[in-house]
Amino acid sequence: MKVVVSIGGSVLVPEPGSDRVAAHAAVVEDLVEDGCRVGAVVGGGGVAREYIGAARELGANEIELDQLGIDVTRLNARLLIAALGEGTVTAPAHDYDEAGNALRQGDVCVMGGVAPAQTTDAVGAALAEYVDADLLVYATSVPGVYDDDPNENPDAVKFDELTARELVDVIADLEMNAGSSAPVDLLAAKIIQRSGMRTIVLDGTDPDRIARAARYGEHEGTDVVPEGVGEEPTYWADDEH
Ligand code: UTP
Repeated sequence: MKVVVSIGGSVLVPEPGSDRVAAHAAVVEDLVEDGCRVGAVVGGGGVAREYIGAARELGANEIELDQLGIDVTRLNARLLIAALGEGTVTAPAHDYDEAGNALRQGDVCVMGGVAPAQTTDAVGAALAEYVDADLLVYATSVPGVYDDDPNENPDAVKFDELTARELVDVIADLEMNAGSSAPVDLLAAKIIQRSGMRTIVLDGTDPDRIARAARYGEHEGTDVVPEGVGEEPTYWADDEH
């Protein structure tokens, strides 16, 4: 099976350090050992926000800020690459062709951002669409998709399952709500909808959760199931685990 894992920067590098990165790399390597082809997309996290905040104060425009953010996502991607062994790209792929070629050659591909005016959420969805992945996993710092921001509203309710169309509607509502942050952004939700990509949004702070979700479809996050897909995917073998 082919899986794209989009790892939030605040999940992979909550602060510069090696432990979390090593644990995520170990999960990627285990999946590869099981025969999975893996594409990883890495976000910028708090470090990106700090750089962007500083540059904004210095008068940088939005595109310049995005370029700075992309640079930080690529720094984080390089950390993951450093933790992965042979059989991995040597530098973050800068576009989908590069990433797709690496996957075809059997390498793990790792990328950060690619172009201004979006986030790595959209990069994950586009990479999954481009390489025709079986599964897209968003490893975020929240437990799934909620009907409101759980950090702001203690009554926010988590969705166990959504269609892609419902995901787009929920995210559009959340994004209209000033200040509330969605675990996946609207562009990403729209790419998921048009591609019919089977997607899981989960709390990826413990990387073993990503492994369980990719291997068996087991998780406590939100399943985004494309319309018209009734059965469980065949790659989630029902063997003992
Ligand atoms: P992230 O994908 O980490 O954004 O990219 P985010 O959603 O703010 O971060 P998390 O999910 O909370 O960790 C960091 C920044 O890099 C720029 C954007 O400015 C984004 O906010 N970026 C990233 C791009 O402009 N294009 C890309 O393709 C990716």
